Formats: sequence, C-alpha cells, structure tokens
Amino acid sequence: DLAVAWLGIQMDNPLINASGVMCRTVEELEALRHSAAGALITKSCTLEPRKGNPEPRYASTALGSINSMGLPNAGYRYYLDYARRYDHEHDKPLLMSVSGMSLEDNLEMMAAFDEAALPVLVELNLSCPNLPGKPQIGYDFEASARLLAEVSKVYRRPFGVKLPPYFDPVHFGEMADVLDGCPSIGFVTCINSIGNGLVIDLERESVVIRPKDGLGGIGGDYVLPTALANVREFARRLPGRHVIGCGGIRSGREAFMHILAGATVVQVGTCLYEEGPACLTRIRDELVCLMQDKGYRTLADFRGCLRTL
Ligand code: DHB
Repeated sequence: DLAVAWLGIQMDNPLINASGVMCRTVEELEALRHSAAGALITKSCTLEPRKGNPEPRYASTALGSINSMGLPNAGYRYYLDYARRYDHEHDKPLLMSVSGMSLEDNLEMMAAFDEAALPVLVELNLSCPNLPGKPQIGYDFEASARLLAEVSKVYRRPFGVKLPPYFDPVHFGEMADVLDGCPSIGFVTCINSIGNGLVIDLERESVVIRPKDGLGGIGGDYVLPTALANVREFARRLPGRHVIGCGGIRSGREAFMHILAGATVVQVGTCLYEEGPACLTRIRDELVCLMQDKGYRTLADFRGCLRTL
C-alpha cells in the first residue's frame, strides 16, 4: 500500500512530476492527471506569460540532463484558471509552483491564490537558476526570510518552498533556521537542479544548450547523492514539516532511498522528461516490488529510517 496522507491531501502513491516537466499546458497537465502519478504540480508561474530562453534549452546526456528553460509559462492566471476548473473532490491532488521575478510579483500571485481559496498546495520556488542576472533567492538567507515573512502575511494557508541544493552543513543550518522561523511552511522540496553546470559535446567541441553560453541546471543521475543529503538534512532539522524529495529518481530504488532519507513524497523530473508518463507506472510498480521484497507494508514502515554507522 503506497498511500500517503499529508498536509490535508491524500495520495494513492507518493509520485509527483517535478515542476517544469510536462506541466506547462492544460494538455500536459491533463496527461499527468490521467497518469499513475499520485498528484501533479504545475509549471512555475510568473505574473505575466513568458516565452523563456532561446532554444536549444534542454539537452539529455548519458547520466541526466541540463536545462536553461528561462521560466517559459502561460502566466499565473492560466494555472489559476486550471485550478478553479479542477475537480478537487474526485481527482488526484493538485500542487502549484509559483516563481515570481520579484518580491512584489510573488506577493501579488500569492494574494491571488489566497483569494481563490482552492484546496491546492503552493510550492514557492526559491531556486530558479536560469534567469540571466537573477541570483537564486534560496542562496540569500536574509532575502529568503524576508520573502517568507511577507508571503505569510498575504497567503494564510500552509505552503511549501522549493529549495536549491546546499553543499555545506552551515548552509543547511542557516536555511533550516529561516524555515523554522516561518510557521506557514508546511513542506520543503529538496532539490531543484544543481545550478549552472556545463555539459560539453566532445565531438563538436561545443556547449549543448544556447542560453548563458551553455550553463544550465543539472538533473538526473548526477544529482542523486546531493538530493538525498538535502532531503535527510532538512527532514531531520525540521521535524513536523514535510520534505518532498526530488533529484535522480528513475526507478523504485531511488524513490525508496528518498523516502528512507525522510521524504514524505517524491518528484520525478529528468526521467519523466525522457520517458514520458509511462515511467510513473513503472516506478510505482518497482517501489511496490521493492517494499514486498523487504517486507514493508506501508511507506511509514521505513520513512526516515536510514541507518548510520
Ligand atoms: C526554470 C528552471 C528551474 O530550475 C526552476 O526552478 C524554474 C524555472 C526554467 O528555466 O524554466
């Protein structure tokens, strides 16, 4: 039994798409709604529609992916309309990613989501690495604390944040303190892509994506250990909040690892982009088999139970 209930939502299984993958249009969202996913999340939205960065802006490699999409999205009203028409009673839970270009934009969108009073979970994105000239807010602890304090005033329900990966215990501690100081935070999604990697095509002696002279967010197998470290560290530093694990999940094995590290549910990015929604059926069934082999009946039987030596 893969069921999980958290923050007022009920999921048949712990799989969600990672925001950005297969969730920009109503058509893509509807395909996810009909997939094996336990819930779905919309593309990070901005106040106004955006075309995003010039193509090519995504490339896959043997071990994962690099992207610099640049926040192409239909604008928050489009996703809010989708959420208003959504059958929240009968369909799988809906999460919505918000990624304003400024504090003011984030506040305007969060106020609109508050006003709509829909049973959705909002994931506020603190970690888009692909906007030329815009630093990731999640790497500025002061600015993150200010943003969360302001958002909490206009959005009166629990919400989550999508964090960038951290690589130093001091930074885990600083961000955990920021989140601990914000009672509205119900969940934390770890991790966004490892920002500003560079993939090189040896044959062509060239970068593989056009924006930022080839720099982009890295996903897939490359990021699994970093993702697991972030999930484990935030799960144990923030008891009472939920962690969504994201990074390097491409089979039931990695999904199990994320949950063992403390994740309540998990998101699938690169693998979903590469394989399409059928991978969610496969990963779900693999997780069931792995749990059976190990003698676990529910996710709670092993969640957060990672052993240390
Ligand atoms: C984009 C990439 C991200 O990693 C993110 O969190 C938001 C947007 C993008 O390039 O579209």
